Parts: sequence; structure tokens; C-alpha cells
Amino acid sequence: MASAISSRRSGKRWRNNAHAIALRLGRRGAALIVIDRLILASNNEGKLREFRRLLAPLGIDVIAQSELGIPEADEPHVTFVENALAKARHASAHGRLPALADDSGVCVAALDGAPGVASARYAGEPKSDTRNNAKLIAALSGVADRRAHYACVLVLTHRADDPEPIIAEGRWHGRIIDTPRGDGGFGYDPYFLDEASGLTGAELPFERKNEMSHRGKAMRALLRQITGERA
Ligand code: IMP
Repeated sequence: MASAISSRRSGKRWRNNAHAIALRLGRRGAALIVIDRLILASNNEGKLREFRRLLAPLGIDVIAQSELGIPEADEPHVTFVENALAKARHASAHGRLPALADDSGVCVAALDGAPGVASARYAGEPKSDTRNNAKLIAALSGVADRRAHYACVLVLTHRADDPEPIIAEGRWHGRIIDTPRGDGGFGYDPYFLDEASGLTGAELPFERKNEMSHRGKAMRALLRQITGERA
């Protein structure tokens, strides 16, 4: 397998290679580091679908960690950023490739930010969107304050011991409704209403969800850091 990372000493050569635009991790020493393939440190089908669509136009192949036989990382932390770092390091260590991790969740104001980092397993094991959503709606029964936001932290590690991981975040504000709408998206999307559009995350086509979503915003922030060549 060819290396997923190539280091080029000439920025001109990088610009002339459409596929190698990929992710430029900036200069490490004299070399320009380019990624054209990375591991997505997740087995979540919804996330995988969204990242493949976000990164394909940049010529970046997204490999699910399950394709490489990498087990799921522990997510013991109370913050999204710590969990995202743990997942990216774990995937880079096992797969010996750059890794992108997303730790995300829905934070509900009336529930003091729950389910938050526990969103994927809110209703316990095994993970179930159906049971998670049922638990959330039950917890909000009779509650007038339905404000919620999705949060996403992305971490890109060049390798497991990367001392300078790239970290970006995004948020999407909305409210939780009682009756599910739409069949797109994943997770809590059918119950998450984007007030600006009047549509749920599951009703918005991918491109529109991406314009507003926590993940889309975090991805754009990550790319800005990379293409801006961090000072
Ligand atoms: P993680 O894999 O531990 O980061 O858990 C993320 C969980 O948050 C998912 O399993 C969903 O339950 C929820 N989540 C994150 N992003 C979204 C989204 O864009 N739509 C719906 N649910 C999401």
C-alpha cells in the first residue's frame, strides 16, 4: 500500500497535483505534509456517509476503522474534545495512518446539557437511535423549554504521537420536537428542528444540513486551519 502521507518540498508541486491537494498538514520542518487517505475513527454509518461526501471533493479517501479491523476506542471523558483526541490517537496507533475523529452529540438545555457526550449510548448498550430518541422525548415530557444544540469536535492526527493535532469545533442550535419528521440524517435528526429552515435534521437534504450543521461547521473550520497553514 502506498503511503497515505507524502511530503513535498515544493508548494508548487502540491498545487499542481489535484489529488494531492488532500489535507495539507502544514510544514513539519522543511517538508509539506499531504494526506490523501485517512482513517475515520468511527463505525457510525451516518458519520461515515457525511465525511465521505465532505472529503471526496478534496480527493481524500475515507477508510472506516472497521475496514481495518480497528476496535472502537474507549470514550471515558466528560468533554467532546478529550474523547475525540482519544479516538483519533487510537485509530492512528492501530492503523498507522492519519486519523480523523468526530466526537459529537446533542446537548439539551432543560437537561443540563444531557445527553451530551453520552448521546450515542444515552439509552444504554447496545447503541440504538430508536431507544435514545424515546428516552429523550420521555425526559422532555411536559417540559416547555426545548432548546438544544448539536456539538461536534473534530481532531485530525497525523500520527498517534502527533504533538500538534488539528482541532476544530462546530455547533448547531435548534429545538427538540415530540413527533419525528423526515427520513434522512441519522441519530436524533428526526426530532431536531432547525428553526431557521423550519425543517428537522432528517428533512434537510445533505447539502443543506451540511451548511448549518455542527459537523459541517467543524469541517470547514478544520479545513481553514489546514489551508491557512497554521502560524
Ligand atoms: P459519538 O460517536 O460518541 O461521537 O456519538 C455521536 C452521537 O451523537 C451519535 O450516535 C448520535 O446519537 C448523535 N449525533 C451526533 N451528530 C449527529 C447528527 O448530525 N445527527 C443526529 N445525531 C447526531
